Amino acid sequence: MTQKLFTPLKVGAIEAKNRIVMAPLTRSRADNDTGEVGDLHVEYYAQRAGAGIIITEAAQISPEGKGYIKTPGIYTEGQVAAWKKVTDAVHKAGGKIVIQLWHVGRISHVDIQPDGQKPVAPSAIAANMKTFTGEGMVPTSEPRALELDEMPRIVADYVHATKMAKKAGFDGVEVHGANGYLLDQFMKTSSNKRDDAYGGSVENRARLLLEVLEGVTNAWDGDHVGLRLSPFSPANDIADENPQETFEYVIRALNKFGLAYLHMVEGSTGQSRDVKEGEDIAKLRQLFDGVYMANNLYDRDMAIEAVEQGKADLVAFGRPYIANPDLAKRLELNAPLNEGDTKTFYAGGKEGYTDYPFLEETTAE
Ligand SMILES: Cc1cc2nc3c(=O)[nH]c(=O)nc-3n(C[C@H](O)[C@H](O)[C@H](O)COP(=O)(O)O)c2cc1C
Repeated sequence: MTQKLFTPLKVGAIEAKNRIVMAPLTRSRADNDTGEVGDLHVEYYAQRAGAGIIITEAAQISPEGKGYIKTPGIYTEGQVAAWKKVTDAVHKAGGKIVIQLWHVGRISHVDIQPDGQKPVAPSAIAANMKTFTGEGMVPTSEPRALELDEMPRIVADYVHATKMAKKAGFDGVEVHGANGYLLDQFMKTSSNKRDDAYGGSVENRARLLLEVLEGVTNAWDGDHVGLRLSPFSPANDIADENPQETFEYVIRALNKFGLAYLHMVEGSTGQSRDVKEGEDIAKLRQLFDGVYMANNLYDRDMAIEAVEQGKADLVAFGRPYIANPDLAKRLELNAPLNEGDTKTFYAGGKEGYTDYPFLEETTAE
């Protein structure tokens, strides 16, 4: 009997041919000046079209949303034209692809920001983190707190990026609400000390995310929009005093948008699936009415079991997709996996990007 992981699923408006998803993976190979992707990206994503859905590397929604060198954008006509080549190639290869919409907030540096400005954040509190600039790894800069009257502009940037994504031929967008970037910075208490309508109570801390979702689902139907959250992850130096309470509120509030899916990083991103006492991923999942996509340290057996038992509708794989362009096929055949080389995760051109072997190449001879 075919295991459910390998069977199709309708994810909002997107017909996924299986429940294996390529998780969003920043690879830092875009043109640093224009934020445009190139021919290598076309090849890289087309190679991975066997996934039920590809979620692209995070793409900044504005110049201010950028935090690392060589990450792509989705706000100029040039970026749209460049991404169109990627979406065409993935569709031609039989795949589906959504783009992750990113504003890094305080995880940035004055050298990366327009006119050397301070990065923006809910509050003027620096993260104890490093980022890549042209000078190598440097501590992230102290941000400035966004003014109340700037909030509509932030929402408008998400809406603009959504329209650009539609124009570029994507099957949908994923709002990046995870991993300590802007929207997560607003939701969590360690980075949000505001005393206006966007800080303090859970309702206020969730306000920006919900306004963004309102804008994005008006610009494109909710069934083309996914959301990524990481309620219990400390990624990018972030913490919440009561994440269970915060995210029970957030997830209940999502249901009215009719989203294509909720994508959850379960535990600490890329590190551990453990959560603290009182933190309950299954409970959060139950509160969401729609399709649930699970991520974080899944292997084949775990993914098969999660989908079979209804704990997840889809499973997103991150690092395994870097090293295995044909991961979905390998999982289905229970074939061995290539090991990824962490040295080439970020930057490095073709090497460690488009040159990982397919199964036929591995087994030939
Ligand atoms: C090289 C690399 C780049 C990543 N870039 C992103 C990103 O752009 N957006 C995002 O939400 N998560 C990003 N992540 C996190 C992954 O999507 C995923 O949550 C994490 O790797 C855990 O899944 P895995 O155990 O299947 O790798 C990145 C992870 C790695 C290793």
